[in-house]
Amino acid sequence: HATEPFYGTHQAGIVTYQQNSLVFAAFDVKDAVTTAQLQALLARWAAAASLLAVGKPVGPVTTRSGAPPADTGEAFDLGAHRLTVTVGFGTTLFDDRFGLSDKMPAALRPLGQLAVDTSIDPTISGGDLCVQACSEDPQVAFHAIRNFARIGRNVVTLRWLQEGFGRASATTNSQTTPRNLMGFKDGTANIKAEDPKVADAQVWVGDETDQAWMKGGSYLVTRKIRMHIEAWDSDDITDQQQIFGRYKDSGAPLTGEAEFDTLDFAKKAGDGATVINRFSHIRLAHPDNNGGAQILRRGYNYTDGIDTRTGTLAAGLFFIAFQKNAHEQFARIQNSLAQDRLNEYITPISSSLFAIPPGLSKIGDWYGKTMF
Ligand code: HEM
Repeated sequence: HATEPFYGTHQAGIVTYQQNSLVFAAFDVKDAVTTAQLQALLARWAAAASLLAVGKPVGPVTTRSGAPPADTGEAFDLGAHRLTVTVGFGTTLFDDRFGLSDKMPAALRPLGQLAVDTSIDPTISGGDLCVQACSEDPQVAFHAIRNFARIGRNVVTLRWLQEGFGRASATTNSQTTPRNLMGFKDGTANIKAEDPKVADAQVWVGDETDQAWMKGGSYLVTRKIRMHIEAWDSDDITDQQQIFGRYKDSGAPLTGEAEFDTLDFAKKAGDGATVINRFSHIRLAHPDNNGGAQILRRGYNYTDGIDTRTGTLAAGLFFIAFQKNAHEQFARIQNSLAQDRLNEYITPISSSLFAIPPGLSKIGDWYGKTMF
């Protein structure tokens, strides 16, 4: 089974080939936990992640009798299936509890309420710590989060958890572009692993940071975006394609023929209007409309079953984006999307921002070692 490298300049799970399954958890640190206890947890998580990344259990699956096994066992003999575990820190970790108030990066200040944020649920947003587990096998991703929660049970509590059942983006040129739950190819114009210059310019924190410990890291935005699936499914195909600015079957721009054809926002139709509508998703989200800002999208399709109040599908996109500064990139693009025609069919219901520290260098290194 394929494995993804664990040690490196950057954490895995960002420009890594996007795996098909996600389990994402946010944790809060319990009351009265000391800085030393928090550090010990981050070191234990690092050790566990290094084992999981090569398909090993976090400890013996069978152990001396009379004690519970160290690893919960459900991924035993499954292999890693490209598992990546990515750990991040929320704004609330930098309050006075752990002596970190002068280590808080300016770029981690809360995003606040954006133009479309009328329905954000704080109980499924934010958190002191986050862990993103991605794998080709959903059970392997779940096992990672479950064992992180178990290792941390005296130090942290789970705040929220989100499962994603299928990737809704592509992060390498080697993978095909998948489709989101609106049936459109998603991830065509994404930042790809084969463009390290773009990743350096847009994804990885560099010398511009006010906190040296963040160099080589990134900022993660998650947004749970509920789709109004039944309304979407009754919209006609011409309108659906106008909303995105792309053809549904091929993913090609309305001004082209093949998926990766360049966009032509100036091209006019017979009636004098531009072929790609000015309020379409791809025009508003495009770097040309956002001062060159780009983001690395790595979202997943999700479903929570049905909304029992209305009997409708509770499903959508668990949007994930990485960038070197979410205020200048994600928030700028999101504010442009305030005019997006797609907004009629979607509602963001969670919003989170986390600082993703750089990768771990070798055995013994741990998340936040250079921060404390
Ligand atoms: C492009 C779907 C939310 C940023 C696209 C495309 C689709 C799509 C189908 C065209 C294919 C591609 O290039 O990937 C959706 C859906 C969303 C959603 C269904 C919500 C449920 C967002 C949000 C942002 C965003 C919240 C950022 C704030 C972008 C960007 C592009 C894009 C930057 C590429 C534009 C370009 O340069 O051509 N999206 N998107 N999207 N989307 Fe979204």
